[in-house]
Amino acid sequence: MKRAIIFGATGGIGQAIAKRLAQSGWSLYLHCNSHWAEAAELGEELASLYPDQDFMPIQQDFCAADADLKKFVEGLLPVNAAIFAQGITNYDFLGSQSSEVIERILKVNLENPIKLTKLLESQLLKHDHSRIVYLGSVYGGQGSAMEAVYSASKGGISRFAQAYAREVAASHFTVNVVAPGAVMTPMNAMFSGETLADLAEEIPAGHLANPTEIAYWVDCLLNPESDYLTGQTIYVSGGWLE
Ligand SMILES: NC(=O)c1ccc[n+]([C@@H]2O[C@H](COP(=O)([O-])OP(=O)(O)OC[C@H]3O[C@@H](n4cnc5c(N)ncnc54)[C@H](OP(=O)(O)O)[C@@H]3O)[C@@H](O)[C@H]2O)c1
Repeated sequence: MKRAIIFGATGGIGQAIAKRLAQSGWSLYLHCNSHWAEAAELGEELASLYPDQDFMPIQQDFCAADADLKKFVEGLLPVNAAIFAQGITNYDFLGSQSSEVIERILKVNLENPIKLTKLLESQLLKHDHSRIVYLGSVYGGQGSAMEAVYSASKGGISRFAQAYAREVAASHFTVNVVAPGAVMTPMNAMFSGETLADLAEEIPAGHLANPTEIAYWVDCLLNPESDYLTGQTIYVSGGWLE
């Protein structure tokens, strides 16, 4: 059985990835932080569509201590793939951001994905084709004012993926980043309709991405035929910013 864990499966992009991978025959751990009921509901919906696969909601705060992360990973059934679709931002000038907010963004987007990768490594190395996909951002390539810490976290995950991919490449274990531009999800809920319409005009493709347009690339990377693509950041941005 092929089994993946989707971190941030309750997010706009994570849900689309879950639906796409379920369709492709994956059993899934559906990770959430605060939205347990949504993760459970998604699991039930997918189980009714794909009764031969397993869909298990699971909770973990990425701000937790190292010992909790270790316990979390030790409790998992073996997975062939991990998709890191969790993420947070804070839209403000650096000078107005507290140390707590800065630390939280770096923990959720960068530090603890790296620590969880380390903890998952031994079980991923056991499979014929293993995969890690991190959700990056165009802001990891072009830093964005008002999201400086977020940009740093996304640039960091791209460089981490490139370096780590080289450590495990000989084992049919690929590590990549799918880096969206602007996507219609709750992460952009702080912007008004007018701001989003102005943004859409800046994007050469003429619209913000639908989460399904991001999920497609994650599914491709999980295919065994994608073994030779590793260490890359794939910008899925409608031609915007990359
Ligand atoms: N939307 C965009 O325009 C856009 C553009 C470029 C890149 N991205 C990246 O794509 C990924 C998904 O974004 P999205 O738009 O789907 O975001 P979203 O809808 O806001 O979902 C965020 C996800 O992160 C989880 N999360 C939040 N705090 C967490 C914590 N402390 N510990 C663990 N998980 C936590 C949430 O879990 P709960 O809901 O259970 O709390 C949720 O599943 C992120 O990495 C984001 O940076 C998004």
